[in-house]
Amino acid sequence: MTLQVTDIGELAAEFAVLERRIDGRPITYLDAAATSLTPRVVVDAIVDYYTNHRASVHRGVYPLIVEATELYEGARERIAAWLGSTPLETIFTANATASLNLVAHSWGRANLNSGDTVLVTELEHHSNLVPWQLICEERGASIEYIPVLDDGTLDLDAYQLLLARAPKLVCVAHVSNVLGTINPVAEITREAHAAGAIVVIDGTQAVPQIAVDLREIDADFYAWTGHKAYGPTGVGVLHGRRELLQAMPPFISGGHMIKQVFQASSTWTELPGKFEAGTSQIAEAIGLGAAVGFIQEIGIDSIRAHESALTAALLERMAEFPGLHVHGPLDPAKRGALVSFAMDGAHPHDIGEILGREGVCVRTGHHCAQPLMRRLRVGSTTRASFAIHNTTDDIDRLMHGLESVRRVLAL
Ligand SMILES: Cc1ncc(COP(=O)(O)O)c(C=O)c1O
Repeated sequence: MTLQVTDIGELAAEFAVLERRIDGRPITYLDAAATSLTPRVVVDAIVDYYTNHRASVHRGVYPLIVEATELYEGARERIAAWLGSTPLETIFTANATASLNLVAHSWGRANLNSGDTVLVTELEHHSNLVPWQLICEERGASIEYIPVLDDGTLDLDAYQLLLARAPKLVCVAHVSNVLGTINPVAEITREAHAAGAIVVIDGTQAVPQIAVDLREIDADFYAWTGHKAYGPTGVGVLHGRRELLQAMPPFISGGHMIKQVFQASSTWTELPGKFEAGTSQIAEAIGLGAAVGFIQEIGIDSIRAHESALTAALLERMAEFPGLHVHGPLDPAKRGALVSFAMDGAHPHDIGEILGREGVCVRTGHHCAQPLMRRLRVGSTTRASFAIHNTTDDIDRLMHGLESVRRVLAL
């Protein structure tokens, strides 16, 4: 597959599910931020593994296992090189949640102590919050919040003041899954390091849509998930700084992660295996490698340009729509390709239901960000998010659907 930027409008053909009709209507998929659709090349890579190379990895020397291992480790190498990491520092997990729990339970349990402070932002997904609540409770540490300003950006002045309290850890989302805000993670990391803190970044919403260079960001841990980046479900990634990963105790233990096992104790294998206990997500990791190949072939800058133009167009259309309020930054350059909104007099679940009848798929709910919902003084929002297959026709169908909401609810 060789795709040119000009082909982007035709990329829908790469996603088989978009050929479906539901009640005679096409699918207008505006929910990539929840989970992205899967391109054919990813399905093909998974089918190829199960059809032609089905064996375990790192468990023997016969040809089939060597092939499977090459595919699995090849995916790791591709992913690491793409983001500016190394294979040793690239750990396959089940999803972003598992990646963040790995850091909390391994690094957190070994390093957080009574009286320590962990900074998290008010816009975190529960995945980068609840694990810290649990580990802080266990270790006697406390959590402080970096506030969100009314324009949906982080209050960086408040962050400076919080850094003066010498936190041990700073946890921040690269792109907010509700507000779309692109946080200045390189700057946040630099300042955290200057204050002596370790930095954990949740890159889940960033990796599929903006260029990410882990060397430039220089965080200690960077977590993301495969199924929002055109990959399959069941695989996530944790990138970590080698010295920290080497010093950390294992999280999940059992097969593969050991060097030697004695009756009374064990020693651990080298990175990344130390954090990959049990039989790996072989097909899923191979599928994620193919997804990254798909993104690379289109080019992340082309993806960003396409999705950013759609976001700008949607924001413009929404500004003209009566009673509709957008959450988060209004400047498309400051946000990712997702727009959460409220409509006067309409509950998000009613909006989602009515849009769904027209084949328009959006996310409604609290987006696993309840502290942020409280900050916004709402219980839930409706969120439309873009992927590479979307076009302005999808925006037309969404806006038409919102007209239907007004009509059905007599607004
Ligand atoms: C910003 C962010 N972080 C973490 C997650 C959790 O991802 P997963 O459920 O794949 O672990 C999500 C998913 O919605 C997210 O949007």
